[in-house]
Amino acid sequence: MRKPKVFVTRLIPAAGLEQVREYCDADIWTEPLPPPADVLRRKVSDCEGLLSLLTERIDGALLDAAPRLRVVSNYAVGFNNIDIPAATERGIAVGNTPGVLTDATADMAFALLISAGRRIVESEKYAVAGQWKTWEPMGHIGQDMVGRTLGIVGMGRIGYAMARRCHGGWGMRVLYHDQRAHEQAERELGAERVAFDRLLADSDFISAHADLNDTTRGMFNAAAFARMKPTAVFVNTARGPLVVEADLAAALLKGTIFAAGLDVTDPEPPLAGNPLVGLRNCIVAPHIASATVSSRNAMAEIAADNLIAGLKGEPLRAWVNPEVATNRRKGADVGD
Ligand code: DGY
Repeated sequence: MRKPKVFVTRLIPAAGLEQVREYCDADIWTEPLPPPADVLRRKVSDCEGLLSLLTERIDGALLDAAPRLRVVSNYAVGFNNIDIPAATERGIAVGNTPGVLTDATADMAFALLISAGRRIVESEKYAVAGQWKTWEPMGHIGQDMVGRTLGIVGMGRIGYAMARRCHGGWGMRVLYHDQRAHEQAERELGAERVAFDRLLADSDFISAHADLNDTTRGMFNAAAFARMKPTAVFVNTARGPLVVEADLAAALLKGTIFAAGLDVTDPEPPLAGNPLVGLRNCIVAPHIASATVSSRNAMAEIAADNLIAGLKGEPLRAWVNPEVATNRRKGADVGD
């Protein structure tokens, strides 16, 4: 029985990988670092399916090097690493993994918010370095949480989950900025949809949950940080390029804002000398928001389902470009 050839760009949890191995002739990249671009290009050249990560740049040129490719299944909810119009034009279905990392990511945003606001990482370094000599009445003073104002930029699933935590746990007032109104957030949390500038000026905590696109790239720049309160804490668990990092570093150094907690940078990992890394009032984590057992297992299952559905010519479980349906590249079904 012929199995369709696929390339899997990293080891992912068995919850999905076993299924991929069962249905496909899978070439799995087992190195810890991503395949270099030329290797990826060579690997996909005779593949019908690709299971990719956010570390792979999938553009028109790569897709042109893969004339048999029918599906790209991204092991992530975000898909800014993929040129979706280029895939659609070529009749290639693209899948992602929404819904299953919402709580894990909101938990991470919540953890960064409290850690940066209460200077927890900075204090831990202080203790480890042997600088803790006595209880300090004036030392390590951070921000209060209860009753403060949270600004959510991008009120999607994750933004809403973050707003629920802050409203429910600390009674925060919720402002949000989004192209669309979020009725549930307004009804249940009393959230108020406001212009970006107002959100920046009125919020004590600002948490970024926006997609990365041409409109949102660099939206957190010097002008945005200048509008924030000097006590503001900025959190980003979405995508690094939403932020102009040099501007954030300057704002943190000058005290324009109080602190930041980042799970994402631009690029990833940060280049040597990135001024945010090691800054006293900035926490930088290595893009770990979805790193929980159940989230990663569920992401693997959905990614495998998407890949196999794509190979079978069926609708994808989480389909980024359903508009490709009328124009899908044909191939032999799984199990032919
Ligand atoms: C995603 O899925 O887009 C996250 O950034 C990584 O899990």
